[in-house]
Amino acid sequence: MNRACSVGVFRMLADKINHGLVAGMRLVPRSVIWRFSRRYIAGVHLSDAFRVVRALNATGCAATIDVLGEDSATPEQVEASLGLYLEAIDGIQTASMKCSISVKLSELGLRFDVPRCNETMQELLSSARDHGNFVRIDMEDSSVTSLTLDLYRDLRTRFDNVGVAIQSCLRRSEKDVADLMSGGPTDIRLCKGIYIEPESIAYHDAEEIRDSYRRLLEQLLAGGATRVGIATHDPALISHAEDTIERLSVAQDRYEFQMLLGVAGPLRRELVKRGHVVRVYVPFGELWFAYSMRRLRENPNIAGHIFRNLFRRH
Ligand code: FDA
Repeated sequence: MNRACSVGVFRMLADKINHGLVAGMRLVPRSVIWRFSRRYIAGVHLSDAFRVVRALNATGCAATIDVLGEDSATPEQVEASLGLYLEAIDGIQTASMKCSISVKLSELGLRFDVPRCNETMQELLSSARDHGNFVRIDMEDSSVTSLTLDLYRDLRTRFDNVGVAIQSCLRRSEKDVADLMSGGPTDIRLCKGIYIEPESIAYHDAEEIRDSYRRLLEQLLAGGATRVGIATHDPALISHAEDTIERLSVAQDRYEFQMLLGVAGPLRRELVKRGHVVRVYVPFGELWFAYSMRRLRENPNIAGHIFRNLFRRH
C-alpha cells in the first residue's frame, strides 16, 4: 500500500472511531460529559467566566467571553442572551478585565428575524462602545455565511468596535475577504472552520485548508486589514504566521493570536513569552450540555480530543 493510500485508510478508520464515540456518548451520564467539558467551558454562570478571565489575565492573556447558545427560536431567548452579554460588558469594565465579547448571530435571532437581530446587535455594540469594549461575530455554518457578512458590513458603517470571523475551509473566503477589505475597515478572526460542509463549497483535505489559511492570512495582513485574530492551535500555521508578521513588519496592534480555553496551553504560554498578544475564547452558560453534544454531532473529530482528555489525569 502506498503512503497516500494508507493515510486515506487511516483517516477513514479514525472517522469511523470518532463517529462511534459520538454515538456512544449519548449513553454517558451528564456528570461524566461535564468532566471533559469543564476543560473547554468556564462554567454555568457569568461569575465562572469572570474567574477564568481573571486567571488568564494574570498569565498575560486577554480573553473573549461567549455566552453559550445558538439558534434561538423566540424573542425571549434572544433577550436572555442579550441581558447576559450586557451584564458581562458591565462587569468587565468594573473589574478592569482584558476581555472582549464573542457572539453567534443565530443566538441573537438571525434565523427568525434578521432586522431584529440587527437591532439587537446595535444595542450590544452601543453598550460595548460606551464601556470601551469590542464585539466579535463568530461565523456559523454555511447556511448563514452571507447573512452574517451582510450584517457585519452594515454594522461596521455605524460602529468601529465590531469584527467577524472567516473560515479558511470555505472556498468562497478569499472573495469574501477581498470584498470586505474593498468596502471599509475590516477586523477579522481567521479560523479553519468547525462545521462539516459539502465538498462543493469547502476544502476537506487538511493540507488544502492550511494552504487556504496561509493565503487568507497574507491577503489580510498585506492587504491592510485593520486587525487580524489568528485563531488556530496548529503549530505549522502559527509558525507561518510569525514568519509572515516579521516579513511584512506587521505592527503589534494589527494582530493577535487566539486560542480556545483548555487547548494548547504550552503553545499559548510560548506565544505570550515571545511577546505576542494572545486572546483566549472563554465560553460559559447553562446551555453547555446541548452545546457540547451538538458540536460533537457536527464534527465528530472533536470526540477523539475529548476522550483523550477524559482519561487524562487532571
Ligand atoms: P487543528 O484542528 O489541526 O488543531 C491543531 C491542534 O490543536 C490539534 O492537533 C490538537 O492538538 C489541538 N486541538 C485543536 N482543537 C482541539 C480541541 N477541541 N481539544 C483539544 N485539542 C485541540 N470555528 C468556526 O467555524 N467559527 C468561529 O467563529 C470560530 N471561532 C474560533 C475562535 C477561536 C479563538 C478559535 C481558536 C477557534 C475558533 N473556531 C471557530 C474553531 C476553528 O475553526 C477550528 O475548528 C479549531 O480551532 C481547530 O482548528 P486548529 O486551527 O486549531 O487546527
